[in-house]
Amino acid sequence: QESWGSFEELDRLFFHNARNNATALYVRSHWMEDNFFGYQCLNGCNPALVRQIYNIPSNMAVNADLLHPFLPQESSLEEELKSGRVFLLDYEVLEGVSANIINGKQQYLAAPLCLLHVDQEGTLKPIAIQLQQTPGPQNPVFLPSDSKADWLLAKMWVRSSDFQYHQLISHFLRTHLLGEVFCVATLRQLPEVHPLHQLLMTHIRTTMQINIQARASLLAPNGVFDQSIGCGLTGAFAILARGASRLRYSSLCVPDDLRDRGVATLPTCYYAQDAQRVWTILFVSGWVDLYYHSDTDVQLDNEVQHWISDIFAEGFQGLTEMELPQSFESKAELSKFITMVIFSCSAQHSAVNFTQLDFNLWMPNCPASMSQPPPQSKGSVREEKELLVYLPDINATCSVLTILALLSQPTASYVPLCQYQEPFFYTGAHRGLVEKVQKELKSLTAMIEERNRIIALPYPYLSPNHIENSVAI
Ligand SMILES: *[C@@H]1O[C@H](CO)[C@@H](O)[C@H](O)[C@H]1NC(C)=O
Ligand SMILES: *[C@@H]1O[C@H](CO)[C@@H](O)[C@H](O)[C@H]1NC(C)=O
Ligand SMILES: *[C@@H]1O[C@H](CO)[C@@H](O)[C@H](O)[C@H]1NC(C)=O
Ligand SMILES: [Fe+2]
Repeated sequence: QESWGSFEELDRLFFHNARNNATALYVRSHWMEDNFFGYQCLNGCNPALVRQIYNIPSNMAVNADLLHPFLPQESSLEEELKSGRVFLLDYEVLEGVSANIINGKQQYLAAPLCLLHVDQEGTLKPIAIQLQQTPGPQNPVFLPSDSKADWLLAKMWVRSSDFQYHQLISHFLRTHLLGEVFCVATLRQLPEVHPLHQLLMTHIRTTMQINIQARASLLAPNGVFDQSIGCGLTGAFAILARGASRLRYSSLCVPDDLRDRGVATLPTCYYAQDAQRVWTILFVSGWVDLYYHSDTDVQLDNEVQHWISDIFAEGFQGLTEMELPQSFESKAELSKFITMVIFSCSAQHSAVNFTQLDFNLWMPNCPASMSQPPPQSKGSVREEKELLVYLPDINATCSVLTILALLSQPTASYVPLCQYQEPFFYTGAHRGLVEKVQKELKSLTAMIEERNRIIALPYPYLSPNHIENSVAI
């Protein structure tokens, strides 16, 4: 129940677990660097939050003079904003959420805003961090020019906030829980002989089982959230509810999401490049063409119309602000929605799941909990060693890492993306479609392997051979 005494102690646990994992070792050597902090926003376990901004958020106490030293000398804040080189991480969803009590000790959450800048080469770096949403004298803006310990502490707070956001919103809500909504609606509304039932079931086959297990263990009293994670159970449900009310359909559709967040064309965002390619290959217009000859055919398919209205009314609580379709008017609309379902339940899950052990094994990079309040002034820490008291206790650290390792066991019946077992996929016109997709996925796998050979830290997480066909763990 004690806190960590030294980085050497943490090393011992780390090396025991990481063995030769090149990514985990890389994380441990680079976690303090600004470049690596930016890299993780694009290609770490939570690549779905960072977004381009054209205006500084009004609740962030920064101005052009303050930020000037961290921007290219010949440019200005206004210029950089205008040309789309300023990005933001905003954890407002954590604001006011009550934190956990671990080993009898109060834990703390923050709701940071973090500004980042991307240079001509595509290198993204943090340039300002405000730990709480409301500006004020007790909510300083930390800068890269602050003392090394102050700046590192501010970045750790962002990373710890990212841990909560990643696990609950990017991982659990946006893949597991959405998968469950799609699964229940499919079982309720699409008869087994419906071609979309047959196509979708393979991608939602394992979702209910893992979600029931997760609710019975991870998210139950005395489970890992309750025992060892900063938000605790009460906080977890509050964050999930808020995350759900902020869901937007466009953020689930890869091309729209990448464009809206301004990462679609960033040469250093491998997540974006690979996600875009997988989405294009998965795009199901071929299937839809087989069964629907015109938009009218779609409008007249009562079963599929009941399916989407069930998803809208029950799964998304009838909330129109989420901009989910309430009915399908066209083949294009239907194809896009089905592609989104398949992508969320397979590729997106891999992007947020496979990454978690690699990036989190070195706990300081992603503190699961923070056991001291966020600093209200600069100079509260002087040496890096003092940051150790912020980390979860030794036994809480171990329990989080055990769970992450458990979630990293390959599932017993691992099925790679679009490797179908059901005879349905290999008869008649389906066969051609399946073979085409499989061929394209195979060449994408080769392309990603090639690319990964020439970059510092490989990004294999969206390589089709790493993507499981449905959410299974
Ligand atoms: C270890 O590192 C490699 C990258 O070198 C990665 O592909 C692999 O999935 C990692 N994770 C585990 C848990 O082995
Ligand atoms: C989840 O990630 C781990 C690696 O961290 C991997 O071994 C496991 O197969 C992944 N599960 C799925 C369903 O992708
Ligand atoms: C840490 O150890 C204490 C004493 O054995 C135990 O009561 C507590 O539940 C443990 N905490 C965690 C997070 O595992
Ligand atoms: Fe998962």
